[in-house]
Amino acid sequence: MRVLLTGGAGDLGQFLCRSLTGMGHTPVVFDVRKTGEASDTAAMRALGVPSIEFIEGSVLHREQLNTVLKDIDVVVHLAAWHGIHEARKERDVYEFWDLNVGGTFNVFQAAAENGIKNIVFVSSTSVSERFGIYGHTKVLGEEIANVYAFRHGMNVIILRPRAFIPPWNQEVYSNFIEWARWFAQGGVHISDVAQSVVKSIELLVSTADGFEEPAPLCLPVDGAYEYSDEDLANWDAEGRGSTFRKRYAQFYDLALEMGLNPALKPTKLDISKTTKVLRYRPLYSMKTLLMELRQYGASGPYADRKP
Ligand SMILES: NC(=O)c1ccc[n+]([C@@H]2O[C@H](COP(=O)([O-])OP(=O)(O)OC[C@H]3O[C@@H](n4cnc5c(N)ncnc54)[C@H](O)[C@@H]3O)[C@@H](O)[C@H]2O)c1
Repeated sequence: MRVLLTGGAGDLGQFLCRSLTGMGHTPVVFDVRKTGEASDTAAMRALGVPSIEFIEGSVLHREQLNTVLKDIDVVVHLAAWHGIHEARKERDVYEFWDLNVGGTFNVFQAAAENGIKNIVFVSSTSVSERFGIYGHTKVLGEEIANVYAFRHGMNVIILRPRAFIPPWNQEVYSNFIEWARWFAQGGVHISDVAQSVVKSIELLVSTADGFEEPAPLCLPVDGAYEYSDEDLANWDAEGRGSTFRKRYAQFYDLALEMGLNPALKPTKLDISKTTKVLRYRPLYSMKTLLMELRQYGASGPYADRKP
């Protein structure tokens, strides 16, 4: 299956390239920039090994998009400026509008013109911040996805992950422990977000005749938690750090040593619909993180390499 990844040279796209090739699919990366993941693999192709195709281009370029979409089974629309670009004022409101709204419209319209029925649109929990620049563009992106699902009978899955910038992205996290302190507030690992995209693709292609309702499925994406809902409702009822100690007694001292705050109550999203509909099973949790800290120390498992 040929899966177009708009913005596929970014963090999530690169991760997906590995997942998809591992499953025998061909990721077609469509991005304004190239990365090592999307390098020319003609030799592998000659050997019959599934490989990654790279097309340098922009979702703002309508003619090019129309050509690129000619021989595609599923589109995963990722290209966007996101929260970090707004927080750091790296992109202005026009750039957000052009890529996130105009680009999303272009992708859906080109898909419709090419008879493509299966689209995964990666939105964000930031739709709850509709008065923010980024949140507003994702609200409008979802609106476009909704209209195209109805008007063109497309199967559309909208995923709403919470922030998932990976620990190896050194433009954002200078080291693993910085990422770990962020993750401890409640978070999802990029590997789990990639899992949700892969499971969305599987659901789309197995529902070839279309969903029962002509509405996109809209699914939040969060990570795995050892804490139960009761733990969170009665947080630290027995004193500061008591809930953490209850779940991770053997890691308590390590957490303090690493500068993690055991009294920090994480936020957890309700992903019951996502687990039911997609059979999504997030794997990376606080316990995974603590085990990595114990095994690799503060520099984490990616000190010398990306996974
Ligand atoms: N990273 C997060 O924490 C997070 C959280 C929730 C949702 N999301 C959403 O997930 C998606 C992927 O995020 P990511 O972290 O991989 O982003 P990223 O910034 O790592 O990658 C985005 C990619 O889009 C490409 N791009 C920029 N302009 C383009 C254009 N005109 N045409 C084609 N490609 C273009 C960039 O070169 C980049 O490779 C985005 O839609 C984002 O809004 C991200």
